[in-house]
Amino acid sequence: MINFKELAKKYGTPLYLYDFNHIQDRFLELKEAFKGKKSLVCYAVKANSNLSIIKHLSTLEAGADCVSIGEVKRALLCGIPKYKIIFSGVGKRDDEISEALKEDILMINLESEGELDRVEAIAKQMQTKARISIRVNPNIDPKTHPYISTGLSHNKFGVDIEVAKRMYIRAKNSENLDPIGVHFHIGSQLTELEPIIESSQIVSDLVRSLKALKIDIKFFDIGGGIGIRYSHENTIDVKSYVDGIFSTLKGLDVTVVCEPGRFIVGNSGFFLTKVLYEKTNGDKRFVIVDGAMNDLIRPSLYKAHHDIKLLSDELNHSKADIVGPVCESGDFFAKNIDFPKTTHDDLIVVHSAGAYGSSMASNYNTRGKVAEVGVLNGEDFLIRKRDSFEDMIKNELECLG
Ligand code: LLP
Repeated sequence: MINFKELAKKYGTPLYLYDFNHIQDRFLELKEAFKGKKSLVCYAVKANSNLSIIKHLSTLEAGADCVSIGEVKRALLCGIPKYKIIFSGVGKRDDEISEALKEDILMINLESEGELDRVEAIAKQMQTKARISIRVNPNIDPKTHPYISTGLSHNKFGVDIEVAKRMYIRAKNSENLDPIGVHFHIGSQLTELEPIIESSQIVSDLVRSLKALKIDIKFFDIGGGIGIRYSHENTIDVKSYVDGIFSTLKGLDVTVVCEPGRFIVGNSGFFLTKVLYEKTNGDKRFVIVDGAMNDLIRPSLYKAHHDIKLLSDELNHSKADIVGPVCESGDFFAKNIDFPKTTHDDLIVVHSAGAYGSSMASNYNTRGKVAEVGVLNGEDFLIRKRDSFEDMIKNELECLG
């Protein structure tokens, strides 16, 4: 049991806390579901890019799914072997492509014909052969929030099957490209298995047709997206997930790669914030806390639900908005929820904050990024210092005056 009050006192608030045992258990649960099957679990670094978290997963033999050269460097720094690192994303700069080639990572995931041209040209300049995969858009509705849905043809991600085929043929005939993988990722926070399996079937049919063209795909990357429980959502059983994927791969000898982010870290994380004061405007009650949208933007950006609990025995409840100090009406953690009466310095815990919390934080309103703490086997340790004012301004130059 994590002692929130003690840790808030020790490290101050706002604060991110992560249960490293939970992270470990989730990763091992997924590894276990893949047991005996050719597979590679690549942690999606974007979900939480803290070095200590990546390092912890690296010791458990995770690979890494990265979307910028910065994330690739984080993965390498944390000891993830280069042959377990994938570089995805709809737009990569030339310098990112050449650096990824220099680092000799497992593969670069292409998302357009234009990108194939660039990777081929850069590999040629470097006199090397780029290992690539192609992200296919299976045009399947993942049944999740539209902002985190990525597998429909009106989304910017991936290419249509027919375009992918054309790209594979070009890559096969190129001296500087080695097409070894196929990739799809239909969305995040998926709570239904069916769209994933349907997509897997479509993409495995593509792999079969490529085989007939003597293009031998070795890595079948099913993306990330396994949802977690924020309140009462259904969740996907990982054993059925793995078995369902493999049921679509009959006759194919491929390594299945998956890229979970939220599933691994989402429910490991807690955001701790203190009550500054309460006020009422008309008959509307606000609880104003020291954390804000710049620390955890999911409620503002997606109207995402996070369970929010006050650590007190107060029984007197009424409706309230839980809001931060940032100068935006959209700066809230919850709206119109039943919440106990609070007093100055009461501690509030925002649950399921491990994924896309700290990694999406900003310095908006010149608010420092908060401290982060890990807890493993009952021991707590600082994994990120709180920003000082100097940290926030250190890259700015005073050019005028
Ligand atoms: N692979 C690819 C290609 C992705 O685009 C993503 C997430 C993942 C893997 C990891 O997905 P996960 O297992 O975490 O669902 N900021 C949003 C989520 C954005 C997800 C972006 N892509 C949120 O807070 O809900």
